[in-house]
Amino acid sequence: MSTLRHFLADTDITRAEQTEILDLALAMKADRFAHRPLAGPQTVAVFFDKTSTRTRVSFAAGIADLGGNALIVNPGESQLGHKESISDSAKVLSRMVSTVVWRTYAQAGLEEMAAHSSVPVINALSDEYHPCQLLADLLTVREHKGDLAGLTMTYLGDAANNMAASYLLAGVTAGMHVRLAGPEGYLPNDDVVAAGRARAAETGGSVTVTTDAAAAVSGADVVATDTWISMGQEDEKEERLALFGDYALTSSLLAGASDSAVVLHCLPAYRGFEIEAGVIDGPQSVVWDEAENRLHAQKALMAWLLARSGLATDESAG
Ligand code: CP
Ligand code: NVA
Repeated sequence: MSTLRHFLADTDITRAEQTEILDLALAMKADRFAHRPLAGPQTVAVFFDKTSTRTRVSFAAGIADLGGNALIVNPGESQLGHKESISDSAKVLSRMVSTVVWRTYAQAGLEEMAAHSSVPVINALSDEYHPCQLLADLLTVREHKGDLAGLTMTYLGDAANNMAASYLLAGVTAGMHVRLAGPEGYLPNDDVVAAGRARAAETGGSVTVTTDAAAAVSGADVVATDTWISMGQEDEKEERLALFGDYALTSSLLAGASDSAVVLHCLPAYRGFEIEAGVIDGPQSVVWDEAENRLHAQKALMAWLLARSGLATDESAG
């Protein structure tokens, strides 16, 4: 019997399921218009409470590639979450669309949506996690480095933000050794670390949390960073810029990583702050592949969720 599946956090899928989705993404990337599980067309509703370039365009293009129709709802354009409860919205949307994708603030909102939805719900970024981004990142690492298991992946900067949590949880799910480095007070919370360690114990991965940026980068196969000022934190700009300077991804810091290390950044990037221009625009950077892979990874995710939920209408869903 099929069970309705959602993707709200990186640990909502097992290691084997993560591999299935990445395999399907590679197949979809190799033959972009051959998979049409949304033919009909079925509609996917994509709601944004925060702004976006990559997420918006990759979902819109990916839904079209799959034969579906993308309904993009920009911030302030719907009743969701302010004029109407999330639970009522979930019931209405489930009668009309095949999947709900939502970029929002609180993870609790996504959980409420999923609890009342009869179609898959996908987290397109919350304050807590950015799991779609990590599917794209891991796809990119697989393309450049091969097998994910056993690789060391380091994240520098605001280690308490959504990207840090997703690097930790998705990385250990893949069996990677994940190191997070940030200043005191900006390290992942205990629940995220505990969830990461529990998953790592199943996969052979590991979790290291430190304030020592150079130690975290030493010998790493993958080095990643993200903005120091996430959406919703704009009021903290001055104090944040003063705090994170030692965690900037510079060429001298990167020199301590493996010679063949690749550099990730989910974008948008702020050159001269969290990442040096020479690093993001340099030979070890794979950020443009990473951005493109949002498209392929999310197509695979949508097809996989519908298939696993027993809602696929086409064999090509994988
Ligand atoms: N990386 C990412 O999610 O980018 P957008 O905010 O442009 O969607
Ligand atoms: N941490 C960033 C990621 C942007 C894609 C934010 O939440 O704004």
